[in-house]
Amino acid sequence: MSPSGEAADAAAGDEVGGGGPDKGRVEVEARGKVALVTLQRHRKLNALSGAMEEALAGALESPEVTGSRSFVITGGPQVFSAGADVSEMSDVDPESIFAYYRASGGVYEAVASMPQPSVSAISGYCLGGGLELALATDFRVADETAVFGLPEVSIGILPSSGGIHRLVRMLGTARARELVLARGRLPAREALALGLVTEVVPAGEALARALELAGELAELPPLATALARRAIEAAGESSRDVALLVEQLAYAALSYTPVIDRRGSGRNG
Ligand code: COA
Repeated sequence: MSPSGEAADAAAGDEVGGGGPDKGRVEVEARGKVALVTLQRHRKLNALSGAMEEALAGALESPEVTGSRSFVITGGPQVFSAGADVSEMSDVDPESIFAYYRASGGVYEAVASMPQPSVSAISGYCLGGGLELALATDFRVADETAVFGLPEVSIGILPSSGGIHRLVRMLGTARARELVLARGRLPAREALALGLVTEVVPAGEALARALELAGELAELPPLATALARRAIEAAGESSRDVALLVEQLAYAALSYTPVIDRRGSGRNG
């Protein structure tokens, strides 16, 4: 297991009270074909500071993740993330906000555009930017302790790390409006009923189930998996004609690969 990103050096002390208290770090670990990415800023409920976002971006570029066939993001057994670090929200202006999106704020899109499938393992609070991070992964496995919500508007801002766009595409405008404006905090079962999470498991089992799901995804033929994920994204963004064309072109591209590669044991990985 290795720490990753700029927060790592400063922050090895999150758990032990060392040199960089409260800054946190992101750990990456290879578990066979699956990479496990763990947010480690528990004293601040895994609040996503710029340093944490940079550490997460570093984790995505680590050999453990780039060499994986799928990856899991978790915040550990207590909390996924209480969202963007509110202590970094004072003294911002339009220029610094656009600079932020070009820097660490780009990590949510980086998660979503990884070539391999991803799963969030969610326990405890999954709020604001934490939920936006979970929405950037392909699947969300929550345990019964999970609590979801988008409190941004109540503190005078709005979800702006791709969350609104993803919610509207996933759930439609009406449900996105509900979540952003009207629902407050949502327990895991309600989140499941709404379609926000993939499945709910008993307390303490989110990570094990997420790793199991990621393990299954890791066994799929990687090129077909990557193209199917791209076709699904394209279908949400384009006209019917274009979406069908993408499907057909992707299938045609797969026909160039030997059958053994398409079945997952060849050289496409
Ligand atoms: N940003 C920065 N720090 C945060 C944080 C955030 N989003 N969420 C929690 N923390 C910090 C708290 O300041 C506190 O730090 P401290 O012990 O140094 O004072 C620590 O994490 C524990 O939080 P605390 O509020 O004491 O825990 P709680 O169990 O009483 O409440 C929450 C949990 C999640 C309800 C509450 O922390 C909260 O509302 N957080 C903000 C959520 C939010 O607005 N997120 C979206 C931001 S866009």
